Amino acid sequence: MMLALTTAQGIVIAGIGVALLIAGGAIALARGRAPAAAPEIPSAMRPGPPDPDLETPLLQKLQGWGVLLVLFFVVWIPATWLFEPGRNLDQERRLLEDSIARGEAAVQAFTEENQGGVGCTRCHGSELKGGQILDTATGAVINTPNLTTVCGGPWTGHPAIHSLQDIYTTIEQGRGLMPSWSIKYAGALSDQQINDIVNYIVSIQDETQVPFDKNVCINPDATKAADEQFPNKPPATTNARL
Ligand code: HEC
Repeated sequence: MMLALTTAQGIVIAGIGVALLIAGGAIALARGRAPAAAPEIPSAMRPGPPDPDLETPLLQKLQGWGVLLVLFFVVWIPATWLFEPGRNLDQERRLLEDSIARGEAAVQAFTEENQGGVGCTRCHGSELKGGQILDTATGAVINTPNLTTVCGGPWTGHPAIHSLQDIYTTIEQGRGLMPSWSIKYAGALSDQQINDIVNYIVSIQDETQVPFDKNVCINPDATKAADEQFPNKPPATTNARL
């Protein structure tokens, strides 16, 4: 049965366990005697230990080892159990940090040093805060969206974004002059690469403009509120490809 222990209680128990373990080891050492010089008989042909030996010293020795083994697990199992959530969390955090770092490199232009770069900055500005591009079909200059406020959805000028999924959809399938990026939609990026880029975008949101209660990327309540307040949401993608 696993008791619901606090970390402090767990550490105390682990400490007691370690102390017992050390004491047990010390006793075992202190009791150890040098073996008597044996006559030259193959060990398989030697007589077994006599009854008095079997009854007390050998029995105690085996029991001692048994106790030590139990003590070992008394320390080992709670320690593993106590530290596992923290370990998992650390690992998760490291994975996310790595993903964000890959995403940060990916949005920059391709160079010899940055071979994973796909150049979102080419259109969205060097810091992804929005830029201008030429619509070659009409000759009009078009403002591209600021991606550091995109999680604010309709409240920060991104009417087609009500959720993280909308961001994925726009990036994967494209919209208007925004090309599709997913290999599933004739783009160049794998799911993993798009995931990294989205993690990066979520990590660079301008907190003054995108407070938590308006952050549709990380707050499901904000998505609900956006759906209620802005019922006429345009589609995240307008490119009917594939
Ligand atoms: C060729 C220029 C161009 C490139 C390159 C480009 N985008 Fe876009 N992007 C646009 C335009 C234009 C829009 C606005 C589309 C619209 O609403 O009609 C847009 C919209 C978006 C949106 C939705 C924003 C909103 O307000 O709804 C996201 C998210 C986005 N781009 C991410 C990216 C990412 C990530 C990359 C790099 C992988 C990228 N873009 C590369 C031009 C580009």
